[in-house]
Amino acid sequence: MDHFRQVSEKSRFIRHFRIENPPDSDSYPFRLPVVKHLYETGGLPLRSGLTFLVGENGTGKSTLLEALAVAAGMNAEGGSQNYRFATRSSESSLSQYLSLVWGMEKPRSRFFLRAETYYNVATETERLSFDQIAALGGVSPHARSHGESFVDLMQHRFHADGLYFMDEPEAALSPHACLGVIARLTELVEHQRCQVVVATHSPMLLASGIHAD
Ligand SMILES: Nc1ncnc2c1ncn2[C@@H]1O[C@H](COP(=O)(O)OP(=O)(O)OP(=O)(O)O)[C@@H](O)[C@H]1O
Ligand SMILES: [Mg+2]
Repeated sequence: MDHFRQVSEKSRFIRHFRIENPPDSDSYPFRLPVVKHLYETGGLPLRSGLTFLVGENGTGKSTLLEALAVAAGMNAEGGSQNYRFATRSSESSLSQYLSLVWGMEKPRSRFFLRAETYYNVATETERLSFDQIAALGGVSPHARSHGESFVDLMQHRFHADGLYFMDEPEAALSPHACLGVIARLTELVEHQRCQVVVATHSPMLLASGIHAD
């Protein structure tokens, strides 16, 4: 607990989140053990650098990450604050019951990467403006492979002092590209003061030894 408090106080952006007054319901997402646990234990501090969400299929990582991203002002299907599209609205109502405790500073940039809906984010990027494509390195994600588009995003769209959420970024990555992403994540959290939360099953990412705070 002392460790948690220490970590939490260092975070410049999101320090802590808790679930407040959830309905007493047996339906999704309130029936998920992780949601009940976080409610009963007062939530979780977030590291100032990198936090991994790890667990079996169906334990609620994506549900929690999506709720955090929405509560932090991002689009449920992925993207930044500027992305307001929904191809099929399926987000849970959990974000409405999440309370985020922010540090003294606000991130300069935010982005939520969801592997399974990045195609839709790419379409929205093209619709929004050329500036959005320029921000990804000048090539539309639709003109890149799945993995290339993820690497472009992290190289060009993720900046210092940013807040980033990623759901299974490894989904599109070759082992070699995964090493590149580990190097980029290291740079972002260890040298560029970013806060990143990643839901992952990737042994490579989990074994990366990136310094967390
Ligand atoms: N829109 C939804 N409506 C009802 N139940 C849902 C919905 N989305 C997810 N669930 C259920 O909630 C549980 C948690 O799903 P979630 O996608 O958050 O798991 P996860 O930990 O991300 O799993 P994975 O590792 O497979 O990505 C699952 O049992 C799933 O079937
Ligand atoms: Mg998931």
